[in-house]
Amino acid sequence: MAPAPLSPIKVGQIDDVQELRKAKSVAIPQRFVRDMAERPTLTAASSSSNIPVIDVSKLIKGSKDEFHSEILKLSTSCKEWGFFQVINHGIDLVLLESIEKVAMEFFMLPLEEKKKYPMLPGTVQGYGQAFVFSEEQKLDWCNMFALGVEPHFIRDPKLWPTKPVKFSDTIEEYSSEIRKLGQKLLKFIATSLGLKQDMFEEMFGEAVQAVRMNYYPPCPRPDLVLGLSPHSDGSALTVLQQGKGNTVGLQILKDNGWVSIQPIPNALVINIGDTIEVLTNGRYKSVEHRAVTHMEKDRLSIVTFYAPSYEVEIGPMPEMVDQNNPCKYRRYNHGEYSKHYVTNKLQGKKTLEFAKIQTS
Ligand code: OGA
Ligand code: NI
Repeated sequence: MAPAPLSPIKVGQIDDVQELRKAKSVAIPQRFVRDMAERPTLTAASSSSNIPVIDVSKLIKGSKDEFHSEILKLSTSCKEWGFFQVINHGIDLVLLESIEKVAMEFFMLPLEEKKKYPMLPGTVQGYGQAFVFSEEQKLDWCNMFALGVEPHFIRDPKLWPTKPVKFSDTIEEYSSEIRKLGQKLLKFIATSLGLKQDMFEEMFGEAVQAVRMNYYPPCPRPDLVLGLSPHSDGSALTVLQQGKGNTVGLQILKDNGWVSIQPIPNALVINIGDTIEVLTNGRYKSVEHRAVTHMEKDRLSIVTFYAPSYEVEIGPMPEMVDQNNPCKYRRYNHGEYSKHYVTNKLQGKKTLEFAKIQTS
């Protein structure tokens, strides 16, 4: 399918959900009102079944038995949920608080200030609405601010805010810690697949890392809108930090139903992205997820995407393909996939059709 045309979209005051919120209007502009089938049924999401929790300290310094049972849990999480939360992850809680603080300070700046860092049509860095390609498309009840972080050539220095003053330094420190965690987790994920632990790191080259902050203001009609459209992540691995308010909002698709993820204080949510799904020939799943909003509470998430270097060729690893598991994806260049991902609207797992081998 040809990529959607990149016509300039006018996202103005009226499309900025924080401004709508300030205007205290109870009517939801039509561009945010979802078709019936897409609306969240807020009571139906079962919060009882929760995603697995992995204790990273047991993987790093646990006994042999603890290590094995945690690896087993990791493998089940990646196969059956595509999501897990990590506790005892080793990242200083003060740093988690700092990033949350600067993110909130940024979102609370006047619109004119935030507009100095605009997300231009066809790009995914800066402040604005990502993945919007037509006037007909529904908008998410969310403000986003995204930055490419590593390698340095993907940075756009004009988009790094000067306010709050600590913003850039905090992003640097945070990203470097999250990168180390991501790399550790990829080693354990490789081990859980019976592969040598450095498999992914060696394959990925100089990994690409980006951060996206999502701010979801309260919404007078959470039943009509979505905070973030259903999608799978185009990364290899995603690390998501939820705001201290611990507002529930992230939902994942499990057995054809939406399950809310119950935030655990100081834990991080990890999910498998499209790259790992392809590399493992579908054994580990890049699971569809979305965000819903709340009538009184706002919500913040800080999301780090960790992906291979653009020039890397991706395809199912030979170890993952046999008679019972025929090859499901073609080989492709990861840079091309990234481009495909950011030039299409978020639409469930549709983007991964780019790589699917059609079986009749
Ligand atoms: C994302 C994402 C969910 C959330 O940014 O890719 O899935 O809870 N965010 O903000
Ligand atoms: Ni996501």
